[in-house]
Amino acid sequence: MSTTVLVLAAGQGKRMRSALPKVLHPLAGRPLLGHVLDTAARLAPREVRVVYGHGGDRVMEAFANVPVRWVHQAEQRGTGHAVKLALAGVKAGDVALVLYGDVPLVQAATLRRLVAQARRGRLAVLTAELDDPAGYGRILRTGRGAITAIVEDRDATREQRAIREINTGLLACPAGQLAKMIARLRSNNAQREYYLTDVIAMAVRDGMAVAGVKAAADEVLGINDKAQLAEAGRVLRRRVTAGLMAAGVTLVDPERIDVHGTLICGRDVVIYPDVLFEGEVRLGDNVLIESFSRIRNARIGSGTIVHTHCVIEAGEIGEGCEIGPYARMRPGVELATDVKLGNFVEVKKSSIDRHSKVNHLTYIGDATIGKHVNVGAGTITCNYDGANKHRTIIEDDVHIGSDVQLVAPVTIGRGATIGAGATITRNAPPGELTISERKQVTRHGWKRPVKK
Ligand code: UD1
Ligand code: CA
Repeated sequence: MSTTVLVLAAGQGKRMRSALPKVLHPLAGRPLLGHVLDTAARLAPREVRVVYGHGGDRVMEAFANVPVRWVHQAEQRGTGHAVKLALAGVKAGDVALVLYGDVPLVQAATLRRLVAQARRGRLAVLTAELDDPAGYGRILRTGRGAITAIVEDRDATREQRAIREINTGLLACPAGQLAKMIARLRSNNAQREYYLTDVIAMAVRDGMAVAGVKAAADEVLGINDKAQLAEAGRVLRRRVTAGLMAAGVTLVDPERIDVHGTLICGRDVVIYPDVLFEGEVRLGDNVLIESFSRIRNARIGSGTIVHTHCVIEAGEIGEGCEIGPYARMRPGVELATDVKLGNFVEVKKSSIDRHSKVNHLTYIGDATIGKHVNVGAGTITCNYDGANKHRTIIEDDVHIGSDVQLVAPVTIGRGATIGAGATITRNAPPGELTISERKQVTRHGWKRPVKK
């Protein structure tokens, strides 16, 4: 029995108070709908259909490479109406699984339990026990635990309001039976909408078995406003940090780290507060990451220290390196072992071999730097002639003095020394001192200007 997933995402999300369609708001760096589609994909469904409405073009653009069938709901006439549109043409023998684009934290394992119930011919409703169930529909059960109905908050008696088990709105059902019930929905309610939730009472009346599947309270958090978006961020953070700490990572403050992607750590990694990881980041053993750094798509070797305020936008860092404080690695950088990048150093599309140091206030772009090289403070690789980029090659054991401009394309030969303040426009031979002389002049008797 295959599963067809129907994701309801036509809502505008007025309470977000934003021009961005609700399901495109980022949670841990990815749109809400992206989380739902990821989870759906883990169920290996026959097909995923997304009901869209508001800001539809932007939503479809954002997921252009994801294999989903888009179903347009021009007018929002309720969750029941949205499911009716989405069900058109779905095989009657499939299980239809209804998800919400704004309920991003539900886990695949929970949905598998829901689908398993539907495979047995039941209408399976996802429920949760909430400390504060106000506003949600309550699940009514018989003494033996069978679900009899869902009563909406506003229609509930005082005793019913005390029930903490709520309807999450997510459900699974054999598609043929769901379609038949949906066809019978009426919009004779306060909002003049077709409520999907009405199928539960219908199924009970029809004698169809209704199964409740419980989710953890933090899985079913729906995002309607920015406060709930932030809360969902906290839930996700706790899931990630629990995993990291269980694997032995020291998080100095687990509430103050953001992992927008995957972070894989070796033994005895220490991460100070307020670090942002993006994309796929791998840290070797004994890596230390200090506060206020942003690290994306990087591999960092064992024993390396990333000091405070570094920006790593992609790259490979070897073992025993020391980066920052205040260093920036742009994409395409490869550092071998024991390399040092100091403060206010920017490196782009370059490789630096082992034991080399670029310690202060320097720009290295489109360069190949050998072993045991020392680049003095304020050195600039002038890689751009206004039209094209050119490479700088610095061979092993080179010493470059402070405030040097290396006008590419240029090669500094092995063991060469470049004097401070030089502007190097031609290749510098190996083993020699190359300077570009500017004569020092003293003007005797010169007076500073005075203010009139
Ligand atoms: C819904 C449930 C409620 C449940 C709550 C849980 C109904 C009638 N009510 O209420 O029982 O406790 O979720 O969060 O189902 N959508 C469309 N097209 C529409 C209407 C909605 O695609 O015409 C989508 C929305 O974008 C959203 C989802 O369906 O992703 C839920 O809609 P929403 O209006 O938020 O329903 P609630 O009032 O929260
Ligand atoms: Ca909602």
